[in-house]
Amino acid sequence: MRHITIAGGRPLYGQIKIQGSKNAVLPVLTSCILGEGICRIENCPRISDVEVTLRLLESVGCRVIRRENMVAVDASQITCCRIPEREASCIRSSILFLGALTGRCRTASLPFPGGCAIGARPVDLHVASFEKLGVRFEGNRRIEADGRELCGAKVTLPFPSVGATENIILASVLAPGETLIQNAAREPEIDELCGFLNLRGAKTTRRKDGSIRIEGVRKLRPVSYSMKPDRIVAGTYLLAAAAAGGRIRLQGVSLSGLESLAAVLQRIGVQIREGNGSCELASDGRIQALPYLETAPYPGFPTDLQSPLLAVLAGAAGESLIREKIFENRFRVVPELVKMGAEIKTEKDCVKIYGNRHMHGADVMATDLRSGAALVAAGLAAPGTTKVGGLAYIERGYENICRDLRQLGADISLSDGSRKENPRKA
Ligand code: UD1
Repeated sequence: MRHITIAGGRPLYGQIKIQGSKNAVLPVLTSCILGEGICRIENCPRISDVEVTLRLLESVGCRVIRRENMVAVDASQITCCRIPEREASCIRSSILFLGALTGRCRTASLPFPGGCAIGARPVDLHVASFEKLGVRFEGNRRIEADGRELCGAKVTLPFPSVGATENIILASVLAPGETLIQNAAREPEIDELCGFLNLRGAKTTRRKDGSIRIEGVRKLRPVSYSMKPDRIVAGTYLLAAAAAGGRIRLQGVSLSGLESLAAVLQRIGVQIREGNGSCELASDGRIQALPYLETAPYPGFPTDLQSPLLAVLAGAAGESLIREKIFENRFRVVPELVKMGAEIKTEKDCVKIYGNRHMHGADVMATDLRSGAALVAAGLAAPGTTKVGGLAYIERGYENICRDLRQLGADISLSDGSRKENPRKA
């Protein structure tokens, strides 16, 4: 079975660049549907969620060219508005094709989306918001949207859902009239999507109260655009270095978008600062406990970094408590961390971490994307050998986690069942 092998218990030193953002590139790629011509997306991460998105784009008639980290999408002709089940069931963000296809073609047919099993992840907020925009839905086995009467409107989200906010934006940039999204999600990836669409000629504005105003335009032009670094990947490596100790620099990464993580790192005794277009972390590996933290929509602590933070706190001096407020199934990493010597108890939406200093290597399995990253971070900090299985999850979001961490001095390699990856080639 393919797995990552880590000889842990040694600090990380060095500097790396961070791949383009997954959660920004998925809506940006999907939004290419909204206008004719060829959009070039640079710094596009080579991850499996992107590959699935490209196949979905091809399935609706887009022509796609991929060269290294550049992707060109030609959406001059959309030939089909029906999204195939197989690909859509792999990724949650396939739901964004609802907004892009309804915006461009006024019709869309999609299966219910898939994605990591971190919670129920319904799409009720998407559907209710689209109904406000005049879209009608039929069928109950697929999402069948009739957008002939699509029109700008005021939409107030009961919860600032990232996906629903993006979907409303995609549907409304070409809709007649004005759309106002109140209680819109404030994640930086949404502003990156709006920035990309505005470059193409859309008129979106984030207002002071956080709402997003979209004035419908008639068409969008093609552009070239380079994705910003992935703040969750950056956060993962910062947490890995906090746990393992050492000093690392992430080039081209600012702490804007990671303010809540920076505050947490300081609270647990890790030095973090930014300057000269990069951020730097120094840790002696001695981590203080975190009495209480809860995940929250941005600018709160990101749910995506909750599992990697657990890996850090497992080795802290004292007890920590974390409440997960976004997804109901995000503690599946706990039994795996326990195999590595962690003392963690789960109760409803909380975990109590009885920090200790006796973590050790073990054979563990990723159960979702960020739990996989957390197990790699734990393996780097824990003395002994850790083998992490479930690589397909990690590859959904990390372009080459072994390459990146080796550049920081980690002893980490990918075993492909029979073949061991040659570190010098990776
Ligand atoms: C996005 C991110 C994911 C991140 C999450 C929260 C992408 C591709 N994924 O996921 O990495 O963890 O934001 O920051 O960008 N909900 C409903 N009904 C809906 C929509 C959402 O109940 O119609 C609930 C979800 O079940 C969840 C919460 O709202 O409990 C947050 O979901 P949402 O913000 O929509 O996350 P995603 O867009 O799925």
